[in-house]
Parts: sequence; C-alpha cells; structure tokens
Amino acid sequence: MLASGRGSNLQALMDSVEAGRLDAEIVAVLSDVEQAVALGRARSAGIEARFIEPGPSRSRLSGQAEAAMIAILDRLRVDLVALAGFMRILSPGFVSHFKLRILNIHPSLLPCFPGLHVQKQALDYGVKYSGCTVHFVDEGTDTGPIIIQAAVPVLEEDTEETLSERILVEEHRIYTEAVRLFAEGKLKVEGRRVRVLR
Ligand code: GRF
Repeated sequence: MLASGRGSNLQALMDSVEAGRLDAEIVAVLSDVEQAVALGRARSAGIEARFIEPGPSRSRLSGQAEAAMIAILDRLRVDLVALAGFMRILSPGFVSHFKLRILNIHPSLLPCFPGLHVQKQALDYGVKYSGCTVHFVDEGTDTGPIIIQAAVPVLEEDTEETLSERILVEEHRIYTEAVRLFAEGKLKVEGRRVRVLR
C-alpha cells in the first residue's frame, strides 16, 4: 500500500484482514512522508514499512523514487497497489507498469470534486449528498473506472471535519469491499465501466 498520512484506511484494511473479512496479505507500506503515521501502523503490525525520498516536486515523485517503489513492489510480487491517502500523482509509466492493479479511495462521489480539499468543495458547492469512491487509477487525477461508491447526506450544521468523519466511516467499509472483490477476481473492466461478477 502507498500512504502519506494518518493511515486510517490502511488500518481498516489491516483490521479486515485480521478479522478474516478480507482474504489478503498486506506485504508492504511505502510512504513519501518519513513521519507518516501509516508507516508506524504498518511497523506495529509487522509489515514492511519504507520511507521513499520523493524528490523535489510537491505533487509528483521523482523518477528515482518511482523506480525504487517499483523495485520493492516487484520484488514482493504484489498483485495490487492500494493507495490510501497517498498524496502524489503517479506517472503514466508507473500506472502502466501496474495496469488495472492500482486502486484509490477518494472522499467524494466522483466525478464531482476531484483533487484536494474535497469535503470543503462539497460544502461550498452546497450538495445535499457526498460520499466516497473506490476506483482504478489511470493516467488522470481521480478519473479511473469506478468500482464502488457510497453516499452520505450533507447536514446543514456540517463542517469540513464532521462531513469528513461521516464519509470516512464509509471509506473504511467500501475499501475493504473493493479489495475483496479484486482479490476474488470479480472485477471486470469494460471501458469506463466496472462490472462486478457474482
Ligand atoms: C481519505 O479521506 C482518503 O479518501 C483520501 O485521503 C484520506 C486519507 O485518510 N484520499 P487516511 O490516511 O486513510 O486516514
């Protein structure tokens, strides 16, 4: 998994594996942030956790950083790369190396509100529902084929924090579900549409 921050989605996936709700193994957590809480969570669970020096750009990884990540992920023969609060845009080369094997969780109902500060965007726009999306990663930002979404109401008294919390509960639920479907080979991508095989 790739993570840059507190790692609550990582924790939710680790908990799902631990509880037997998800038949998968999380083999490594890589981060572009040395102090990321996510790395500590992984280490406490005995999972390989590595900081990768991201390079000079704030929004992307250097070629060297991506090569280092690919080397580790290939060595571990990962089936899936799950982004969980990973704050950098991956290059087309990285994306094509793991074609249709990278998932991301985003805290809005895409294609509404891609990018950053998403809950604020939803509040400012005045939508009555927001939510979260698990999608395959393609070359764009938050544009890949959608696997699962969950909606939550936006309440009049909501702040960015309260809306984020309500969405996060659903994030943790649908990320486990999406990884489970992927692991079971039940996701069939047809253009932009992802069919869930039963
Ligand atoms: C989540 O809201 C996720 O959707 C977004 O970044 C946040 C990461 O949270 N991409 P966490 O690090 O998983 O707690």
